[in-house]
Amino acid sequence: MALYAIGDLHLSLSTDKPMDIFGPKWENHAAKLKKSFSCLSPDDVTVICGDLSWGMDLEEAREDFLFIDRLPGKKIILKGNHDYWWSTATKAKSFFIENGITTINILNNNCFFYGDDVAICGTRGWFYEEETGSAHDKKIMNRELMRLEVSLKAGGDRAKYVFLHYPPKYGSYICQEILDLFERYGVLMCCAGHIHGKSLQGVFEGVYHGVKYRQVSADHLNFSPLRIL
Ligand SMILES: [Fe+2]
Ligand SMILES: [Fe+2]
Repeated sequence: MALYAIGDLHLSLSTDKPMDIFGPKWENHAAKLKKSFSCLSPDDVTVICGDLSWGMDLEEAREDFLFIDRLPGKKIILKGNHDYWWSTATKAKSFFIENGITTINILNNNCFFYGDDVAICGTRGWFYEEETGSAHDKKIMNRELMRLEVSLKAGGDRAKYVFLHYPPKYGSYICQEILDLFERYGVLMCCAGHIHGKSLQGVFEGVYHGVKYRQVSADHLNFSPLRIL
C-alpha cells in the first residue's frame, strides 16, 4: 500500500475543452495520466487536489469520473476552483453510486485514515490577504478554515498530512491562519495544486516551520502522481 498525490487533472473527456492550448506539455495529458497510474496497485491511495473536470455539471463530468474510477487504486478527491460540477458532496456521492463509481471518496469536512497512524486531511483553501481581500473573500476564507479544522480534529492523534487546492505559501504570500492551524495540529506535510505553467516558478517546496510543502499540480509532476508514503 502506498499514498500518492496529484492535483489539477483538468479532464474534459466529454466537453470541448482542449488543454493543449496551455502548452505542449498538456498534449494527450489523459493518456499520460493513464500510463503513469498503470504502475499503481488496487490498495494504493491517491489524493487528487482539485480541478478534476471541466464538466459544468455531474452529467458533463461523467466520463471524467469514469476515467478516474478506472485508474488503479483508491482516490480521495477535494474541490478546486474549476470544479463547477460540484454542487454538494452529497449529490456527488449519490452520482458515484448511480454510476457504479466505487473507488472515489470525497474529502470535505472529514478525514480519511491511512494505515493505523496517518490521517489524510484537507479542504480547498483560498488565497486571501488581509490588505487586499474583500469581505466576501474573508467569508470564504473563514469557511475554509473551519472546514480544515473539522478535518484536522477528525484526525485525532494520528500523523496529519494535509491536501489543499490553493497553496497556503506561494511566492511572498503566506496564509498565516492556515499555517497556524498546521502548527496547532502538528501537521507534517502539505500538498497543493492550482498553480500552472510559468506561475510554477513561484511555488515553495521544502520545509517551513516544521511542515514539508510539495506542489502537486499535474503539469508540475509530468502527469505522474507523487509518492508521499
Ligand atoms: Fe485551480
Ligand atoms: Fe488547475
